[in-house]
Amino acid sequence: MTKFQHKINFCFVFANILILIIRLTPAYGVNPQKDVTGILGAFDEELAIIQTKLTDTQTHTIMGMKFISGSLEERSVVVALTGIGKVNAAMTTTLLLDHFKPREVIFTGIAGGINPDLRPGDMVIAERIAHHDLGNIHADGFKAQGVANPADGKRNPVFFPCDAALVTLAINLRENIELAPIQRETGEYQPKLIKGTVLTGDVFVASKAKKESLWREFQADAVEMEGAAVAQVCYQQKVPFVVIRCLSDTADESAAQDLRQFYKTAAANAAKLTITLVRELEQKSGKETSAKMEPIGIEPTTYWLQTSRSPI
Ligand code: ADE
Repeated sequence: MTKFQHKINFCFVFANILILIIRLTPAYGVNPQKDVTGILGAFDEELAIIQTKLTDTQTHTIMGMKFISGSLEERSVVVALTGIGKVNAAMTTTLLLDHFKPREVIFTGIAGGINPDLRPGDMVIAERIAHHDLGNIHADGFKAQGVANPADGKRNPVFFPCDAALVTLAINLRENIELAPIQRETGEYQPKLIKGTVLTGDVFVASKAKKESLWREFQADAVEMEGAAVAQVCYQQKVPFVVIRCLSDTADESAAQDLRQFYKTAAANAAKLTITLVRELEQKSGKETSAKMEPIGIEPTTYWLQTSRSPI
């Protein structure tokens, strides 16, 4: 072998080792010594303010999806847009967990109000979250039911419990956060912040009849299109999560029009709460989250249909 061939061989082997090291690094772009918080939103406005506050950013493209790692309120975070709907949300969450190993995941965004006491601008911190379109349809109607986790065969609950410590931390921000007031033709009001039940489905709800049935069947406060998919992935992988939603509409016939009027304020208010939550998390160094704890399944409710012949 000539000296030149030797050099070429050496370069080739060295380059391959380098590629292998890069590919085997578990959480690239983030400091492995620090806790990482994953932050997801479905569309641009839901993450816009968060992105302007990020420092030391690095963009990672994984399977065409963009993940931005950086520092937010001194905490290591990875921010990503899921796109709309449950499949997009599940895909992004899986990539986030696999590549960045976050300690917890926060989903921030807008929703439609189901609880008749809520108005556009009001905020719901999900204590529990369910798919409203997953289950069985029988002659006597729809019954929600969780599917089994393919990894261990254990059936998921109808309601995924959000991390209790994250929920408490978020709801306690009520006193110190100033949310943008909501201007309506009938006057101005200050949004309220509650913890409650959020539903997810692959449909935009703009029907009073559907809204009333979701209220009746699930006693839900809000409906959206991604949260339970994120929750299911996190639940199955035992990663703590919370979903923060600000209402852009009340899921009735005027939903599309209300959404156009309120979505920017609503998305900004949810993002503002998320940023404050991240600051709290960092100040408490994550000690107050039940990180990597076994999630406690909330027992299926009366509308859980337990049949052994059920295909799902
Ligand atoms: N996101 C915001 N408003 C919504 C609605 N009415 N239905 C589903 N997702 C929503």
